[in-house]
Amino acid sequence: MHGSRSLRSSVAFCRGRRVKCVPVSPRRSPSDDRLSRQRSPFRIGENATFLRPFVKWAGGKSQLLGQFQALYPKPGSVGRYLEPFLGSGAVFFHVQALLQPSHALLCDTNAELIDTFLAVRDELDALIELLRQHQKQHCESYFYEARTHSPQTRAARAARLIYLNKTGFNGLYRVNSRGIFNVPFGHRVNPTILSEALLRAVSIALQKAQLHARDFRDLSAVARKGDFIYFDPPYQPLSKTAKFTSYTSGSFGEKDQRDLAALYAELDRRGCLLMLSNSDTPLIRELYADFRIHHVSARRMINSDGKKRGPVSEVVVLNYGPQTSRKPTLRPR
Ligand SMILES: C[S@@+](CC[C@H](N)C(=O)[O-])C[C@H]1O[C@@H](n2cnc3c(N)ncnc32)[C@H](O)[C@@H]1O
Repeated sequence: MHGSRSLRSSVAFCRGRRVKCVPVSPRRSPSDDRLSRQRSPFRIGENATFLRPFVKWAGGKSQLLGQFQALYPKPGSVGRYLEPFLGSGAVFFHVQALLQPSHALLCDTNAELIDTFLAVRDELDALIELLRQHQKQHCESYFYEARTHSPQTRAARAARLIYLNKTGFNGLYRVNSRGIFNVPFGHRVNPTILSEALLRAVSIALQKAQLHARDFRDLSAVARKGDFIYFDPPYQPLSKTAKFTSYTSGSFGEKDQRDLAALYAELDRRGCLLMLSNSDTPLIRELYADFRIHHVSARRMINSDGKKRGPVSEVVVLNYGPQTSRKPTLRPR
């Protein structure tokens, strides 16, 4: 098992606090209102609110949620929701709003990212205050100064990550082989560094969630029959040069893709409801040939070459019949 503490035991220490997630009426600033109108929020209940990622992430699934909706399990059929490649949490927020699972277990190997989610969940006021300070001081030289800092507290590290994500080039989080954030200044006019209402809504949605910096293989120890699990690993590259695996200082290669497919098959036998995204490559089609493969159309959002941001076909692998009777496009089980 990866990591020193057993994931099984940490799951047993489920957070007692049960906070109702929806509907939510967060305090809103004029800029939050503008943002929520612009970015098609998920509207929940009578009090319209919005749950969406508070950071932009390479491979983030916000643009695919409309296509995902018909692929989720039936509403009411989901108890626990598990997501081992959390990233910005776009799918978690969507599932939370639509399917309202009773608990969520959210993991990613990027410890700084998980720490940021924990700060949003547990240290929200301190985080908001620190982001307000970043917003006041924001300029190009301040960005490069912040990039070199290693804050000591979790709230300050989270504020730094959010600040750099909002103001860096293309909203990218990328580290070099020594784990040092190396994205250049983004030159965005008036970036929104603090969206207080959004952070408050996200914090509430996270109250029932457990968050761990773990490898996806650790899921085997905790997943059980009936869990709905969404996998969004770093994609199998379409070509050698298309590779983006710098979310952490490690990388995600063919062996990882094969281990993931083996875990998928094991959890299928266990009776979990499984949904997995990946690129449409011969290896991925071979690894998941026994399952339902659907196609979705994605636009590459993070690519330094604007000309390479056209639509691409990606696969979604399911081991269950989705909500609607959409026909699978390859090899039904
Ligand atoms: C494609 S992104 C997920 C994007 C996410 N679905 C979203 O909408 O933002 C893949 C994530 O997997 C994480 N990751 C990479 N290797 C991992 C591993 N071995 N175990 C768990 N997470 C890993 C990366 O840090 C990254 O955040």
